[in-house]
Amino acid sequence: MIPSLNRGPRRAPPVVELPPGTADPIVALAAHPGPFAWGDLFGREALVEVEIGSGKGNTLLALAAADPDADFLGIEVGSKWIRLARARIIRAGLTNARLVGGEAQWVLERYLPAGGLGRVHIYFPDPWPKKRHAKRRLFQPTFPPLLRRVLAAEGEVRVATDHAPYHAQITEVMEVAGWRVDPAAEWDEGPVSSFERKYREQGREIFRVVFRPPC
Ligand SMILES: C[S@@+](CC[C@H](N)C(=O)[O-])C[C@H]1O[C@@H](n2cnc3c(N)ncnc32)[C@H](O)[C@@H]1O
Repeated sequence: MIPSLNRGPRRAPPVVELPPGTADPIVALAAHPGPFAWGDLFGREALVEVEIGSGKGNTLLALAAADPDADFLGIEVGSKWIRLARARIIRAGLTNARLVGGEAQWVLERYLPAGGLGRVHIYFPDPWPKKRHAKRRLFQPTFPPLLRRVLAAEGEVRVATDHAPYHAQITEVMEVAGWRVDPAAEWDEGPVSSFERKYREQGREIFRVVFRPPC
C-alpha cells in the first residue's frame, strides 16, 4: 500500500486533459513491480534529477523548462499537490517531468534504481518544529544511505531550509554518514520554490547546502 497520500490544497486541483500521444506525468506505480528503468519512464536516456517534496511543482517545472536535455522526477506525498503539479506540467507542455505520489523514503527504496542520479533537490522539507514531532523529519540517520544508493558518485544533493535547528540537524546527519558539504557550491540563483518566495518576502534567513556523497 502507498504510504499516506492525504496532504495538499483544500480546493480540488483542476482537471486537465492529456493531449493525445503524450505520456501522463504521473507515474502509475502499479505498472512498476520493481525499480524504474529511466529510459522507459521518460521514453529516452538522459541525465535524471529528482526533487523530494515537490509540492505545487514550481521548482520541478522551472528545472525541467530550463534543461530540456535532462529528465526530472518529483516525489510528493500529498495527492492533491501531485494532481496540481500534473496539471501544470501538462499546461506547460513539458515532456521531461514526471511525478510519483508516495512517501519519499519508501519510493527511493522501492522504485529508484541504484546509482545514476545526477542531483537530488530537497527544498524546505517540513521542519516539524515541535520536539515531540522531530522524529517525523525526513533527515534521520536512515535517510543518507537511501540517497547514497540512488545518486551517481559524482552527483550532489541540494538542500534549502529556513529553519536553523533543522539545518544543523540535516548537516549533522549527512556528515555523520560521510557526506561532505561543498563550500564552493553554494547557489543563490535558479528556480525559487513557493516556500522560498514566501520566506524571502518575510526576510527570513535561508540556509542552502550542497552535499557530495561519501567516496
Ligand atoms: C514545506 S513543503 C515545501 C514544498 C516545496 N519543496 C517548496 O519549497 O515550495 C514540503 C513538501 O514536502 C512534502 N513532503 C513532506 N514529507 C514528505 C515525504 N516524506 N515524502 C514526500 N513528500 C513529502 C509535503 O507534502 C510538502 O509538499
